[in-house]
Amino acid sequence: MAGAGTPETGRAALVIGGDRIVWAGAEADLPEAYRAAERTDLEGRLVTPALIDCHTHLVHGGHRAAEFEMRLEGASYEEIARAGGGIVSTVSATRAASEDELLALALPRLDALLAEGVAMVEVKSGYGLDVETELRMLRVARRLERMRPVRVRTSFLGAHALPADYAGRADDYLDQVCLPALRAAHAEGLADAVDGFCENIAFSPEQIARVFTEARALGLPVKLHAEQLSHQGGTALAARFNALSADHVEYATDDDARAMAAAGTVAVLLPGAFYFIRETKLPPVAAFRDHGVPMALATDCNPGSSPLTSLLLVMNMACTLFRLTPEEALRGVTVHAARALGLDDCGRITPGQRADLAVWDVETPAELAYRTGFNPLHSRIFGGRAC
Ligand code: NIG
Ligand code: FE
Repeated sequence: MAGAGTPETGRAALVIGGDRIVWAGAEADLPEAYRAAERTDLEGRLVTPALIDCHTHLVHGGHRAAEFEMRLEGASYEEIARAGGGIVSTVSATRAASEDELLALALPRLDALLAEGVAMVEVKSGYGLDVETELRMLRVARRLERMRPVRVRTSFLGAHALPADYAGRADDYLDQVCLPALRAAHAEGLADAVDGFCENIAFSPEQIARVFTEARALGLPVKLHAEQLSHQGGTALAARFNALSADHVEYATDDDARAMAAAGTVAVLLPGAFYFIRETKLPPVAAFRDHGVPMALATDCNPGSSPLTSLLLVMNMACTLFRLTPEEALRGVTVHAARALGLDDCGRITPGQRADLAVWDVETPAELAYRTGFNPLHSRIFGGRAC
């Protein structure tokens, strides 16, 4: 493949063998051995790694437009959750949906992501909160991967909220539902990682530690929704368990950033949720930079706090709201997003990586974060094949 590149780098060439990148560099340096290979001229378009959405709740039933209206009238996300709405209202809709119905609801959301150059999507459970529905959500996530040219990583999120019948009995919920569901998901090969929601409307650090201890016993990596609405100590806990990522992290501190750096934990920033719930506390981006914490970006696609299926819009929001540079935003949806999922075979254009690429009708990488509501994707290459 030749003729890709930017005005800064000049014409570049990329050699694909099977589903892998074999060589990449300046077209002038293309080794003799590849010169006779079949060529596709990309006519100077920008090529990036295919995008990676490393935090989604893509599989869910129902919507929460009524809560959106309530929040516009002044109710907070937390107040709605405490009044019996929020996550548990999506739980009712998800429990009521069959596997096929959940699949049919998730596919258009997935297609919207793919249309913007995504080739890897993380999908969480967490709207079942009973063994059967948690497993159903994860089975749907696995089916998505078989229905579209995309890879899917799953995260078990049984510790997302407390169902009403366990009110005041969080530890009983963990013993009777969450931990058995985690073991069942693992036995069925349905969980690639374990997630939780550490917040005063969800689970305490001590309770999350119980879930993480089980994950460790099963050999599964962990990640955590942490410091989204208040500072609870979830980020420090996640770092103690060498979490792949701590996500949201608006209320994280300088000490948290230091602990994350030492543990190799990625900060997954979710500007869509920040925007949608009208949060005002900015994540400590300067501390993440100072301590060398990689920052990933994701849609957090979910019906309550981020009904969003555009990773390009997330890049724009990360720049305008969080003051990331466009280059940081691009790294956030490629190389750092791969790391937030514990993957080392995607997110970069280097030999040996999967040939999952996005070809863009733009001149400079900054243009990807610059426009809103416009999709400049020219084509997507998945496993070496144009699609
Ligand atoms: O990532 N913070 C917890 N979980 C989701 C919100 C889920 C919901 O409101 O349905 C999030 O923001
Ligand atoms: Fe989330």
